[in-house]
Amino acid sequence: MNLAIFASGRGSNFVAIADAIKQNKIRAKLRILICDQPLAPVVRRAQALGVRVILVRREDFYRRADFEAAIIQGLESYKIELIILAGFMRLLSPEFVRRYRNRIMNIHPSLLPEFKGARAIKDAFDSGAASTGVSVHFVDEQVDHGPLILQQKIKIKSTDTLVSLEERIHTLEHKLYPRAINLVISRRRSSAGK
Ligand code: GAR
Repeated sequence: MNLAIFASGRGSNFVAIADAIKQNKIRAKLRILICDQPLAPVVRRAQALGVRVILVRREDFYRRADFEAAIIQGLESYKIELIILAGFMRLLSPEFVRRYRNRIMNIHPSLLPEFKGARAIKDAFDSGAASTGVSVHFVDEQVDHGPLILQQKIKIKSTDTLVSLEERIHTLEHKLYPRAINLVISRRRSSAGK
């Protein structure tokens, strides 16, 4: 199974998935990183791990359809079968999502449908909620939305700071995302009779 990771930032989930593949905990090939931010740390991290990086900057294209056509070209030339969004901070069009229906996974740092959006951990912390969590789901046409694959809750302790909560959420993400990817891959293999 050929994977592409899409990321825009730090890349800690990218590294966790790449490590899980290296250790044969995920039976798949990480073929490419698609990144829209040339200076993002994830680019250096991918290069250090020997993963090919395809940089696609939105500003280089007038229309979103052309930007996505460049991404699709990359996906097709590497025969990508599963797309893993790991902090890819750009919305994909409904056309793109339909083309890859049930083949795009996303991780989000909250118990969806709570706290969608780009500041989910801070929003949960500021809300005074007793718990939050991590969700992995298939992507549909709405933001941070689609069929759930795995979800895990975390208690927000009275001693937590935003930083300590962020650390605990990220640690959980690094375990949950490889597990969810494995689940999807094994379901695909068994339904394909392999
Ligand atoms: C992760 O916490 C991920 O859940 C979040 O971006 C972060 C990327 O971190 N994604 C979203 O908020 C999607 N709405 P990383 O670059 O260190 O993997």
